[in-house]
Amino acid sequence: MAKRLDGKVAIITGGASGIGASAVHLFHENGAKVVIADIQDKMGQAIADELGENASYFHCDVTNEDNICNLIETAVSKYGHLDIMYNNAGIVDSPFMNILESDKSDLERIVGVNLVGGFLGAKHAARVMIPRGKGCILFTTSAATAIAGLSSHAYAASKCGVLGLARNLAAELGQHGIRVNCVSPYAVITGIAGGIDEADVPQMEAAVSGVGNLKGQILKAEGVARAALYLASDEANYVSGLNLLVDGGYSVVNPSMMKFIGSFNI
Ligand SMILES: NC(=O)c1ccc[n+]([C@@H]2O[C@H](COP(=O)([O-])OP(=O)(O)OC[C@H]3O[C@@H](n4cnc5c(N)ncnc54)[C@H](O)[C@@H]3O)[C@@H](O)[C@H]2O)c1
Repeated sequence: MAKRLDGKVAIITGGASGIGASAVHLFHENGAKVVIADIQDKMGQAIADELGENASYFHCDVTNEDNICNLIETAVSKYGHLDIMYNNAGIVDSPFMNILESDKSDLERIVGVNLVGGFLGAKHAARVMIPRGKGCILFTTSAATAIAGLSSHAYAASKCGVLGLARNLAAELGQHGIRVNCVSPYAVITGIAGGIDEADVPQMEAAVSGVGNLKGQILKAEGVARAALYLASDEANYVSGLNLLVDGGYSVVNPSMMKFIGSFNI
């Protein structure tokens, strides 16, 4: 199969683990030169070492504007330009909703990484993409951008904020040939949940899939990375401002009526 990102240069934040690490492997396999940006140095460096040529690791805290500037400068000086900026780094807090027990500091922490981090990544990527008249900016958002009640208020607010940012960027940057899109996954068992034993992963995946809409499939990090690969590739050359939901239809289905009707045994 043809390499879908041949010759392109990509930065993937949060590339040391989960969806980001899958995207790193997939983008590299498809011919991209990939810069892994993360704060988990050992994991990020190990992936770069494993991939060898055309992969490198760069320590970058996405909440720190100097780190982001250095990341972009390093990628451009190493590889000559930047084609794809994938703002994927993210964190979660406790998924339970309780506004009375939600702290301002929690909101600021989650928004700081998920929204401010994405804003900084997009801003400094646009700085080097605008003069070239092309580029692709991606974000990992969440099914929480399309349906309520999936996460904490802080997380939902941060991801809906990213979606608004992405759409506004698509409006501004279209004149410069820059496409801006989001990939919004349903739940995937990754490092983000924290403290899950490798042995428990299949059981957790089955449980999450069991409450999903699409049966007989399990969403894995690679499934999300494949959607990002499509958006990053020239196959999506006229796609911008899209929120690509990778959620098996979860966010468009409300099962309550079907359950209600089913309860009459008709
Ligand atoms: N796993 C899910 O169910 C799910 C669902 C919807 C959306 N998402 C989103 O997908 C993205 C990737 O999450 P994941 O599930 O792969 O989790 P993960 O924890 O496996 O990966 C996230 C990566 O981001 C990095 N990171 C965190 N804070 C950072 C910072 N300040 N600077 C740089 N890197 C930082 C982490 O070190 C980690 O390597 C996140 O934006 C998350 O919100 C995940």
